[in-house]
Amino acid sequence: MKQQLEKLEQEFKKSISEVNDILKLDELYQRFFSRKSGEMSEIMKNLKELSGEARKEFGKLANQVKSELEEIYTKRKGELQQHEWGNILEKECIDITQPKLSVEPKGHLHPITLVQNDLEDLFTSMGFMVLDGPELESDYYNFEAVNITATHPARDMQDTFYIKGHNQGDVSNDQSPWVMRTHTSPNQARALEKYGAPLRMIVPGRCFRNEATDARHEHTLYQVEGMVIDKDINFSHLKAVLEVVAKHLYGQETLVRFRPKYYPFVEPGVNGEVTCSLCKGSGCRVCKQSGWLEIFGAGMTHPNVIKECGLDPKEYQGFAFGFGLDRLVMLKYGIDEIRVMKSGDLKFLNQF
Ligand code: DAH
Repeated sequence: MKQQLEKLEQEFKKSISEVNDILKLDELYQRFFSRKSGEMSEIMKNLKELSGEARKEFGKLANQVKSELEEIYTKRKGELQQHEWGNILEKECIDITQPKLSVEPKGHLHPITLVQNDLEDLFTSMGFMVLDGPELESDYYNFEAVNITATHPARDMQDTFYIKGHNQGDVSNDQSPWVMRTHTSPNQARALEKYGAPLRMIVPGRCFRNEATDARHEHTLYQVEGMVIDKDINFSHLKAVLEVVAKHLYGQETLVRFRPKYYPFVEPGVNGEVTCSLCKGSGCRVCKQSGWLEIFGAGMTHPNVIKECGLDPKEYQGFAFGFGLDRLVMLKYGIDEIRVMKSGDLKFLNQF
């Protein structure tokens, strides 16, 4: 038995000196010391066959050998671990003296996206949510819910593409026909129904109209809708918010004026104009010598819209506004042809 132990000791020392990675080392350890089938455990099991003193003596020796070998194992494991870390570090080493690789930017944002992002940041800083709505809209939301009834003359100004089939009634059993939305205003009703009051939101998005296109009219256009509904909201809130937006867009010295204008979903409705950012109000080609530029429509939300969305107009009031994003972009960059915006023309796009 003693010989067996010596043989094991030699064999273990020999094998361990040949092992060069941790996995193999662990296999080796298992081969000798696994409780179930390790060679050392076999020897220990045979201890039973010895009697009295001999058993005690051999037990002691076996334990000594075991701890000696285990020590060798731990030491070797430490060495191998260090070696492996060294390898990893060597492979992963970063040459901090290498000059920066130049990364060519791939593409850039469209000017409409730039202005949209800018407005989203401004409105979120004032506590507005930024919402999204469907481009394929129901006749109900696009017109009826915002107080444009079937025979309303306002429908003529916003002729659009009517799509065969009809809405499957996602909300309010709406079974009306599909249209490509003509404005972002249907989201006034969608947001009010979904979130109730108090509400502060904007909805940027693409709209469509059946237009004979020219330098100022496109069949596909971008708008930013906005709405605030709460208790005790009045016209001065509307004015304050829109003045902040105008000054943010065109500079602190910008003046804003409101002129009455009819929109079915507001009462009173206004047309918002700012002093021309190019000529500072003295009159130029862009502002058609008037010194003023129209940049938004707005007004106090019509009680019919509030009622239609399930709220009591005596309790809740609010205001709404709509910006033509294309127009804001054209004024910001001095572009006088709206059709270049979606032309995909790189000569135009690469300027931004
Ligand atoms: N939806 C209108 C349009 O497309 C713009 C508009 C005007 C929106 C007045 C509003 C508003 O919310 O109050 O011409």
